[in-house]
Amino acid sequence: MSAPIRVATRPIPGQKPGTSGLRAKTRVFMQPHYLENFVEAVWAGLGGIAGKTLVLGGDGRYFNDRAAQVIMRMAAASGASRVIVGQNGLLSTPAASHLIRTRGADGGVILSASHNPGGKDGDLGVKVNISNGGPAPEAVTARIHAATQALEQYLIVESQDLDLARPGRQRLAETVIEVVDPVADYADLMERLFDFSAMRALIADGFSLRFDAMHAVTGPYAIEILERRLGAEPGSVINAVPLSDFGGGHPDPNPIWAKALHDAVFAPQAPDLAAASDGDGDRNMILGRGIYVSPSDSLAVLAAHAHLAPGYAGGLAGVARSMPTSTAVDRVAAARGLPCYATPTGWKYFGNLLDAGRVTLCGEESFGTGSDHVPEKDGLWAVLMWLNILAATGKSVAAILHDHWAEFGRTYYSRHDYEALDADVAQALIEDLRSSLPGLAGDDAGPLRVSRAEDFAYTDPVDGSSSTGQGIEITFEGGARAVLRLSGTGTEGATLRLYLERYSPDDPSLDPQAALTPVITAVEALTGLTCRTGRTAADVIT
Ligand code: G1P
Ligand code: ZN
Repeated sequence: MSAPIRVATRPIPGQKPGTSGLRAKTRVFMQPHYLENFVEAVWAGLGGIAGKTLVLGGDGRYFNDRAAQVIMRMAAASGASRVIVGQNGLLSTPAASHLIRTRGADGGVILSASHNPGGKDGDLGVKVNISNGGPAPEAVTARIHAATQALEQYLIVESQDLDLARPGRQRLAETVIEVVDPVADYADLMERLFDFSAMRALIADGFSLRFDAMHAVTGPYAIEILERRLGAEPGSVINAVPLSDFGGGHPDPNPIWAKALHDAVFAPQAPDLAAASDGDGDRNMILGRGIYVSPSDSLAVLAAHAHLAPGYAGGLAGVARSMPTSTAVDRVAAARGLPCYATPTGWKYFGNLLDAGRVTLCGEESFGTGSDHVPEKDGLWAVLMWLNILAATGKSVAAILHDHWAEFGRTYYSRHDYEALDADVAQALIEDLRSSLPGLAGDDAGPLRVSRAEDFAYTDPVDGSSSTGQGIEITFEGGARAVLRLSGTGTEGATLRLYLERYSPDDPSLDPQAALTPVITAVEALTGLTCRTGRTAADVIT
């Protein structure tokens, strides 16, 4: 095997990791040196890769296979001792996270742009995880970004493509490349957390489920767990084969992009439980016969019932949600005497709370839920948690939700996304609102009156690190709330996210959009959003 080659390069602007790793158009990643530059900077951000063990995999999207070969050659060139790679280059994000922990690896690289479309004209991403299995925290992503700006060369070895089709070990220069089954360890972990015999019995009793893998990475995981280990009828997992372009779809599990599944629960012969996951398997959408569960409600329901699953029988240490996520879970925490944290958007902010044992469950409104079993959100985990709760209570999804609202009240919630806005227009809207914040409390805004207005800043209670500018939060008298922030994962222009919330202690029967109309009107009054963006409606409403 040949010695490492030094390739001269120069910094490529814009290689700044966002909410979840570096994302860009696939064609951008395919440009000369683009991927290599970033990977070299990742080694720097991780404090070097020599002598270390790396976990590597991705969601199967276009260029996953090519990128994996490049990364293995670069890891070998910089003296990594071992790269543990999922068979065919596949690993879901939670499975990669689990593998980092069980194998004591020093970090991981996950090739995915999550829920963004794939293919040559779609998106690609590189996510970086650290030795605790979680996403690289801000300190590390800042080091990576700094390294991208000072790069003059990278190291790579020349070699034939490695065969990733069969589990086993091979060598690349001095580095051991270990190809592993991407599913087995993860499925075993799920068996330890949940009551598989109760769930098997429920299914054997005629309970029907449908899981939409959206042609993305969770197909093989769901087939193994739901069909093989739990006995769901063959065909319960749909769109189960990962495709490089996700079948032309948008692998985002929400009522818009998983519309067929969403519609199926409102049609005759609806399954008792329906669910979907995203490109890399960390998001989830939960539906029951005749009902959609909003992700914020799902988090609250799981917090209230988690003790029914064996892995959580000892109760919860605490819960956390991202700031824009609805306060439904706060009500459960208050009733149960649990600590409850609000963090900035992005899973990396949960890492310290989970590692320090301060929280057991956490979640985001963006279809992400998880626990301390891995420091990543986990789509299939959420589905199994629901299934375990249904098996333990004997209730339907709808009954669980209605009982929850009866006990805690209903927190109406919705997110409105305005996509591909002119970046300057979106920035200016946020900046203007930000500068108006100090005088806003007490002002009328349409039908509501502002009681508090702030630019969300967070100080991590574990390591004291702080993050500012994490979204504008406006609370109205009576408790309604609006949050505005710009997306950190988009790849085209700017995406403005508007999060809307209103609590009703005693009327759970409203249509959420109707219930939120006063908040929408108030935001319009404060920002002039329609006129400034030229948009009369959001592109995506969840
Ligand atoms: C979005 C979601 C956020 C999630 C992230 C990665 O980030 O809003 O909750 O953690 O994707 O899945 P955003 O584009 O809003 O920065
Ligand atoms: Zn994802």
